[in-house]
Amino acid sequence: MADAPVLVTERLRLRWLDQRDLPRFCELAGAPEVFETTLHVPSPYTIAHAREFMEHQRRAWERGQAYLVAIAMRESDEVIGAIGLELRRAMDRGELGFWVGVPYWNRGYATEAAGAVLGFGFEHLRLNRIWAGHFAGNEASGRVQQKLGMKFEGVLRQALKKGNTYHDDVVHAVLREEFEPKIKWEIEQL
Ligand SMILES: CC(C)(COP(=O)(O)OP(=O)(O)OC[C@H]1O[C@@H](n2cnc3c(N)ncnc32)[C@H](O)[C@@H]1OP(=O)(O)O)[C@@H](O)C(=O)NCCC(=O)NCCS
Repeated sequence: MADAPVLVTERLRLRWLDQRDLPRFCELAGAPEVFETTLHVPSPYTIAHAREFMEHQRRAWERGQAYLVAIAMRESDEVIGAIGLELRRAMDRGELGFWVGVPYWNRGYATEAAGAVLGFGFEHLRLNRIWAGHFAGNEASGRVQQKLGMKFEGVLRQALKKGNTYHDDVVHAVLREEFEPKIKWEIEQL
């Protein structure tokens, strides 16, 4: 099985995590602000977690279960976050998830990365529907999804449990037939 494609945007490169990224990746993933509004980012975030994620990226791609990549700066190659699509092949459906390290917030990076991943999901993975859920109150995540044309579909009441607390799950989605690309991206040719 070939490596997962590397997606390139104006400022970013979406690629598998590499051994050399691990310390910085742990530092960024380990921020309380990232832990608070995600379900699958452990805290504290150790090198072992990052290695596990690295292996999971490769295994999940090989099995056709997910496209999971690190978000890196295109010029410096420094890693700033992670993004991915969990695939439900039988339904031609993908679930989008992402996080960006706190020092890089509010510069449009999540929107740029997610726009590329949506395009890749529809054009290359031939998905029909891409959806995302976020904790009620996580306005930044909702904003990213809306900026990319994902439509608000509803609130799944107390569908999420984090620790001992239930949270409402706010769902947005976009269908292939209505998708309008907002972000320029391409697959890196080696
Ligand atoms: C959600 C997250 C990925 C956004 O990353 P980012 O790179 O800062 O996103 P962008 O800069 O592309 O866009 C953020 C948008 O949210 C807006 N925003 C930020 N904080 C906000 C708030 N508290 N209320 C409303 N809007 C907010 C920004 O103004 C921006 O919108 P704009 O371009 O219209 O001004 C980042 O905050 C993060 O990683 N959070 C922790 C993990 C997480 O929640 N992941 C999503 C799980 S579903």
